[in-house]
Amino acid sequence: MHTLLHSSAAIPVSSSTIKKMGLDPRKLSLPRWMVLAVVLLLVSGRGSCDVDPLDCGDDEDNDGIVSTPGVPVCSSTDRNALLRFKASISSDPNKVLHNWQASRHNCCDWTGVTCDGATGRVVRLKLPNQNLKGRLDAGLSGLSYLQVLILDNNDFTGSIPASFGGFGRLQRLCLSNIPSLSGPIPESFGSLKSLQLMDLRSNSLSGPLPSSFGMMSNLRNLHLYGNKISGPIPPSFGLLSQLYNCDLSNNRFSGRVPDAFAFGLTALLNLYLNDNKITGLPKDMRNLTRLQWIDLSNNPLMTGDSVEGIATAPLISQIEMSSCKIRGPFPAWVSRLPNPDFTLISDEVTPSLNLANNAISGRLPRALGKLTNLEYVNLQNNLLRGPIPASFAKLQSLRGFNVSYNQLSGKIPQVSPFTTFDKSAYKPGNPGLCGLPLTPCK
Ligand SMILES: *[C@@H]1O[C@H](CO)[C@@H](O)[C@H](O)[C@H]1NC(C)=O
Ligand SMILES: *[C@@H]1O[C@H](CO)[C@@H](O)[C@H](O)[C@H]1NC(C)=O
Repeated sequence: MHTLLHSSAAIPVSSSTIKKMGLDPRKLSLPRWMVLAVVLLLVSGRGSCDVDPLDCGDDEDNDGIVSTPGVPVCSSTDRNALLRFKASISSDPNKVLHNWQASRHNCCDWTGVTCDGATGRVVRLKLPNQNLKGRLDAGLSGLSYLQVLILDNNDFTGSIPASFGGFGRLQRLCLSNIPSLSGPIPESFGSLKSLQLMDLRSNSLSGPLPSSFGMMSNLRNLHLYGNKISGPIPPSFGLLSQLYNCDLSNNRFSGRVPDAFAFGLTALLNLYLNDNKITGLPKDMRNLTRLQWIDLSNNPLMTGDSVEGIATAPLISQIEMSSCKIRGPFPAWVSRLPNPDFTLISDEVTPSLNLANNAISGRLPRALGKLTNLEYVNLQNNLLRGPIPASFAKLQSLRGFNVSYNQLSGKIPQVSPFTTFDKSAYKPGNPGLCGLPLTPCK
């Protein structure tokens, strides 16, 4: 499920927006999605502050580029940069570069090119899904007014030129699904001061992230999913005060997330670190004041304590930590988690706790019953013993619960929804559990 969700940009709806409108989903007794749909409609009529249109799609109306009337005439600097790019392309099966000719002076008419109407400078280059083969030519950075570069899903080989750090006005960089795009993210990227969206997912990038990474002070939406990026997360990351969606999943990041990471990411809503080699989180995450969703699945965390900082994030609501090799007693920080607040949750977040497929032993903590807004609890395939605490009867928002493949015993809380979950929520495993939906207790 989450693969589907995090492939699209999250839509943050600020809590203040919902509060300003005086909406409390529970009082309205409407489904949460309906309330959010209404809020989104109202918000989208208001402008772009709360709903972020940043993605690599076809929404040209949304990329902030205003073409003024009249036919712009392209600058020779830009024409030369484009011709250098063309010269490094070895195969163009769809002939999209056919009209890119030195003899056709006005490059503003060339396929995929958009100029600013007033200045004639190239502001957008957009050629996704074209099977273009060749290198990404360093000379492309001669397009010094470029705001949007979209070259997703092509067959470029080689690395990202360091000169791309010179795109001082670039707002959206979309170079995803280019399987042979390799090498590191250049140190020079720290100079991309206007960049808001970086989508480099599903390439073959490697090496560590440059220490300058946190200097991209306008970065809001980051997708690095599915590369081979290694090493620790650089401390400068904590300076990205605009970043709200951060996907570093499916890479080779290692070590503890540095304390500095939690310093200033005050806009961060979703953090995907799953499928890496991360061993722990910062101890104090209280400055991550909007963080609602963290995915750490498939990392070698080893102990519950290594991620105890999570309970200091004031709005944390969706915690995914399956298959993290966690052994020992139930993580103590669970008792300190804030109860997820529906009124503050974006429409993609589902209040949940997933600790499945670890080696957690001992008893279930009574305090879990305080998280009354949880919708999913998945604890299957651990070494849990003892009863399901009576306090769990207060988890009245639960829509999914799974404790199969443990060694729990005693009476299942005999209230809905516990009595109405499928038997497979409790069995196989737990030979000592009884009561509905299982057989009556003796
Ligand atoms: C939280 O932010 C404040 C203000 O920027 C800073 O002084 C403090 O050191 C930060 N705390 C942590 C734990 O990062
Ligand atoms: C619980 O988990 C087991 C093991 O993955 C699965 O077979 C079963 O369908 C799940 N049941 C529920 C109700 O989620």
